Amino acid sequence: MSLVSPSRPLPAHGGAVPALLPPPRHLARVPGYFTLTPDAAVRAEPAARQIADLLRTLLRPATGLPLPPAADGTLTLALDPAEHPSLGAEGYRLSVRPDGVRLLAARPAGLRNAVQTLRQLLPPAALARRPAASGTAWTLPCVEITDRPRHSWRGLMVDTARHFQPLDRLLRTVDRIALHKLNVLHLHLTDDQGWRLPVDAYPLLTAVGSVRARTPLGPPGSGCRDDRPHGGAYTKAELRRLVGYAAERGVTVLPEVEMPGHTRAALAAYPHLGNHPDRRLDVWTEWGICDTVLGVHDAALDFCRTVLDEAMDLFPGPYVHLGGDECPTAEWESSPAARARAAALRLPGPRALRGWFLGRAGAHVLAAGRRPVCWAEGDTDAQPPGAALPPEFVLMAWRDARHGLAAARRGHEVVMAPHRSTYLDYPQSDRPGEPPGQPGEVVDLAAVYANDPAPAAWPAEHAARVLGTQAQLWTEYVTTADRYDHLLWPRLCALAARAWNPDGDYHRDFLPALAAHRPRLAALGLAGQTP
Ligand code: ACM
Repeated sequence: MSLVSPSRPLPAHGGAVPALLPPPRHLARVPGYFTLTPDAAVRAEPAARQIADLLRTLLRPATGLPLPPAADGTLTLALDPAEHPSLGAEGYRLSVRPDGVRLLAARPAGLRNAVQTLRQLLPPAALARRPAASGTAWTLPCVEITDRPRHSWRGLMVDTARHFQPLDRLLRTVDRIALHKLNVLHLHLTDDQGWRLPVDAYPLLTAVGSVRARTPLGPPGSGCRDDRPHGGAYTKAELRRLVGYAAERGVTVLPEVEMPGHTRAALAAYPHLGNHPDRRLDVWTEWGICDTVLGVHDAALDFCRTVLDEAMDLFPGPYVHLGGDECPTAEWESSPAARARAAALRLPGPRALRGWFLGRAGAHVLAAGRRPVCWAEGDTDAQPPGAALPPEFVLMAWRDARHGLAAARRGHEVVMAPHRSTYLDYPQSDRPGEPPGQPGEVVDLAAVYANDPAPAAWPAEHAARVLGTQAQLWTEYVTTADRYDHLLWPRLCALAARAWNPDGDYHRDFLPALAAHRPRLAALGLAGQTP
């Protein structure tokens, strides 16, 4: 039995395996097929029973297969912690033989990944949310797969502030990203143009801060706008449902609460949090960078700590994102109180207050046993003295990849999110008819695939600090569900492939794999998405 790349022609054992996305690290075709029939049953040891339930939940809508538990089931799910050295936390072995299917992992996360691979080995109709045509044979090619991801952080950020994203869309997004073995859904919950996170201690954040009067329809200066109010906020019950649904599918939901900039919606609700307590602001109705920011007084810090406490209560994951990007310092520079605070802290000036502020909020997150994350802002992150971000911060390198390397050099763990290859709000082509996207760049499928989160040229000790990579969907121009899908797919397939498997060539491997994957995207309702 030889190991072959899944996207190459396979030996004549009775048909090639349709290429999988992301491509597994090792796949060998072996002779024969296995067919899941209505009498197929599942044998799962107690620790694997939740994953057996997931398998049933995922397969039942399309296949109708009951897959009951049975001690002699032909589908076996097993956990063996002794496999951890070879499979890691998320790796798995999947063996499909004519007489049965065996999924093995060291940890439940690995078994979940095996379930997703199993789904892709079935006919694409297995992925649909409605029953397949009667008589569909649920046949899998026999294979031996040994697989584990290159990176542990494989994510998608969805901006729910610029346009509110309904819960159903987020739940469906979890299903779709989990199928591609992405494991982080980062929710950008607060920004100048809308506050979507319910906070009991500050009810006006959603009562006032979640609605803006109107919405620009084009880039700043274009003059086109929609004069209808736009709003929306989640309830705590909805967010708990999302977190639970995602956890069952191996996806961690990462909350982002922006500070100290990108806070205009909060200031509209609570003006005393800003630098001009008597000023009345609206929820911002422009795109771009707003120069109103939080004050650096105790009330603003107490506010952030309280909001973070409520966010940490809702989102149990290990990380909490504090935003931290694009923080204009003009208000602090012209504020006697902010200047006095900077002087009292012996900071070199008001500009250093960003790092100090994030450091205070990050200390609160660390004291709660979580890790703070923020957007990397290059040199600003390293401002000495007293204002550099502490090394416990995970930095998301969004401007240039070199900021990721610089952050890793300073000892930070890093998530690579360089805008020229991971910002899916940029249009994916300059063809006429391409829906409007963020102006400035075109990020085509090849550019997304070219994103290597930890290039071989980086020193090994710095590359080792790269946790992974994620795509960003900012939603200034995402006004419909169709546009949301169009921007994400199929580009997210390219990001998922690169985050999982370091090998592969765009033309030789990825494009043929994507062609084979298209019927699966169609079964998910994403048939119309073209690169
Ligand atoms: C960002 O795009 N401002 C993180």
